[in-house]
Amino acid sequence: MPEAIETRKLDHLVIAAKESVQRPALSTFDSVRFEPYALPDLNMDDISCSCDFLSHRLSLPLIISSMSGGIAQADRMNIHLAEAAEAKGVALSLGSMRIALEDHGQAKSFQLRRYAPNVPIIANLGAAQLRSKGGVDDALRCIELAEADALYIHLNPIQEAVQQGGDRDWRGIIDALAQLNAVSPSPILVKEVGHGIGPSTAKAIAALGIKWLDVAGSGGTSWAQIEHERINENESIFADWGIDTVTAITKISNLGLPLSLIASGGIRNGLQVAKCLRIGASLAGIAKPLLTPALSSTDDVIDTLKKFEEELRTTMFCTNSACLDDLVRAPLL
Ligand SMILES: Cc1cc2nc3c(=O)[nH]c(=O)nc-3n(C[C@H](O)[C@H](O)[C@H](O)COP(=O)(O)O)c2cc1C
Repeated sequence: MPEAIETRKLDHLVIAAKESVQRPALSTFDSVRFEPYALPDLNMDDISCSCDFLSHRLSLPLIISSMSGGIAQADRMNIHLAEAAEAKGVALSLGSMRIALEDHGQAKSFQLRRYAPNVPIIANLGAAQLRSKGGVDDALRCIELAEADALYIHLNPIQEAVQQGGDRDWRGIIDALAQLNAVSPSPILVKEVGHGIGPSTAKAIAALGIKWLDVAGSGGTSWAQIEHERINENESIFADWGIDTVTAITKISNLGLPLSLIASGGIRNGLQVAKCLRIGASLAGIAKPLLTPALSSTDDVIDTLKKFEEELRTTMFCTNSACLDDLVRAPLL
């Protein structure tokens, strides 16, 4: 295996757990406030948080956002995430599968279908790999390899730009995305990695016929800061680069594009999940809150997902929402 990728992935796991790479001050969740409804005509335990996603019925409108894979430390972590996804009925997305394409021995890290037979699994590859020679075939191979229901292509220009040895040549990325979307038998979803997707990018993606966009906004894990901390001790001037999750979802929703939106980036509780659904997202994704639990055990991941569920359910109870269709119509202040 190329030593550089293994070292980088390990650094990412360690540095992503540090508080200095979290940017909560950027998030604008406080600007969204539900009108409280003090006469809920509901049994809180009967509230349904379920929704459809990629031809599956989920129990919760949640995606475990892409994290790692392809290094020994991530193998167990991915099994814990997969088992928890199955137990709680949420979708599972995989970390970048570039490493499995370059070293076939690492594919097992991403072969999690037997741990999560009944929930959507989303494979993952970077835009920079997609645009390189053979990239479209590689992307299709990732779907097969993971027995996935769909594929995330992640867009991370700021991360690549500040990373030592990062991919600086992105010419042809739009054509490659269009080509992939035209030939893929499975849905193609596009995501950022924590610096957000704004309205102009969303328009370009919708024009390609892509139907799913995960804004992965700023306000949570900052990849510019993670790359910076691999070689420096101070703060990167790009640590706060991007568009925050609430602003991205609001602005893109207002465009009325034929895109279903996934909110992620800085989502740290179930109230924030509810807010994202209320302003236009179909589902919410979480990465960092599951990182430490995933390194520990399946039960720890399940406990974290249960906490999100309870907070979402509480918000639904106090807005008189019996189901997610009610929640998206709940009045805001
Ligand atoms: C340890 C770690 C590894 C990640 N690796 C990937 C990756 O391989 N591919 C990807 O698309 N996103 C990756 N991400 C980004 C997340 O999927 C997510 O978009 C981002 O962390 C923002 O969500 P958060 O604020 O909940 O962490 C990673 C995140 C973490 C914390």
